Amino acid sequence: MTSPLRLGIAGIGTVGAALIRLVQDKASMLEERCGRPVEITGVNARDKNKDRGISLEGMTWFDDPASLAKSDEIDVFVELMGGEDDPALSAVKDALNAGKHVVTANKALLAKHGVELAQLSESKGLLLNFEAAVAGGIPVIKVMRESLTANSVSRVFGIMNGTCNYILTRMEDEGLSFDACLADAQALGFAEADPTFDIEGNDTAHKLAILASLAFGTRIAPDAIYLEGISKITTDDIEAARDLGYRIKLLGVASRTSAGVESRVHPAMVPLGSPIAQIAGVTNAVSIEADTVGSLMMSGPGAGGDATASAVASDICDIAKSKPGHQHGPALGQPAVSLVPHERAEMRAHAGGYFIRLTVLDQPGTMASIATRMAEQEISLESIVQRRAKGESASELAPIILITHETTEAAIKTALKGIESDGRLKGEAQMIRIEKLG
Ligand SMILES: NC(=O)c1ccc[n+]([C@@H]2O[C@H](COP(=O)([O-])OP(=O)(O)OC[C@H]3O[C@@H](n4cnc5c(N)ncnc54)[C@H](OP(=O)(O)O)[C@@H]3O)[C@@H](O)[C@H]2O)c1
Repeated sequence: MTSPLRLGIAGIGTVGAALIRLVQDKASMLEERCGRPVEITGVNARDKNKDRGISLEGMTWFDDPASLAKSDEIDVFVELMGGEDDPALSAVKDALNAGKHVVTANKALLAKHGVELAQLSESKGLLLNFEAAVAGGIPVIKVMRESLTANSVSRVFGIMNGTCNYILTRMEDEGLSFDACLADAQALGFAEADPTFDIEGNDTAHKLAILASLAFGTRIAPDAIYLEGISKITTDDIEAARDLGYRIKLLGVASRTSAGVESRVHPAMVPLGSPIAQIAGVTNAVSIEADTVGSLMMSGPGAGGDATASAVASDICDIAKSKPGHQHGPALGQPAVSLVPHERAEMRAHAGGYFIRLTVLDQPGTMASIATRMAEQEISLESIVQRRAKGESASELAPIILITHETTEAAIKTALKGIESDGRLKGEAQMIRIEKLG
């Protein structure tokens, strides 16, 4: 009989417990497809006595992840603890140094230390697999790393945070405020007690940093990503967007431009009829534009124990099928030493259309002064609409919506400063970028 592939799993939370259940329930199917049995021989978590609703029978309990990572009882170290530094970082290094393949779902760890870990795995001739780290159950890493080797990618973008998409979907469908939708997301377990990381875009940025590296052969650079979350989006924006044929989504976008790689996470207007606009609720989607294949879009569950465990299991199967002693494919699609520095295209050079929502004093000359400020920056307007004012001061205030033709971020920012200095604006201007699709 072929020797089993022995797994050591550190982290038995949402994903770890689902993976253990999956490996137990589908043991014979996995054996058939992997060509050898897959067994969990060691586990680790913080609390040995916690009831996890799964059987850990036959598995050795390790009190710390490092000793599991180095154990002679395992062939693969599966890191499902989370966290960008220790203990995940040192345990993964320990595992690689001890000759174990590694599977992780940890985007924070990879965004910060991915290049170093990829280099270490390559120097040891070991696999470092991380399908679950981006968009959970959607097999986007494999597609980018393996299926698109003959392509030059020009843009990769997507909806990669289910919490944000859930909030925006409910705001639109039910006319609820951002705060009300966030509270519901927390009550339903879609959002963390501290949701900042999700709603301010950091989680999407971690995933985008990994995708940008795979797409453009650059070193992973989370700090090079422009970041803007969804907490300032109002139902007024969502209504106005819909009336103008758009929907607002939190997008992560990385594209190749003449000035370098433009990587950004921000709310974006997408045409109502576009495929990405149809992605509702907690669902994720990733779209890739490449020269040979054209455009691809994959959508599906971006989180959840079972969907994420499905991706982790596929990484494990790839290791089970790999031949000992053979040179393995590099973790980031090309040797880590050959990755080039991420040359950042500045956001002020970003070119695109813009949605601007202004609340102005309803006085003669206001429209003309707005038009002048736009013209000074050579911004041409696709439309300018005065909407019906709501609330107590409705008679003195006028909400104005502008849609611009393609211009630069620098021009828009200067025009808005000018409008502000003219003293007719009430509150802050809202500016949402329109993503050009198709
Ligand atoms: N949840 C998802 O849908 C999802 C989707 C994609 C990727 N991921 C990634 O998958 C990883 C795991 O996520 P999760 O949702 O399963 O997390 P989780 O439910 O919070 O579980 C984390 C597990 O790690 C253990 N742990 C935490 N710190 C530890 C430490 N210092 N030493 C030993 N064990 C420690 C915890 O032990 P105790 O149980 O004893 O407290 C728990 O079992 C993260 O990197 C996450 O980003 C998650």
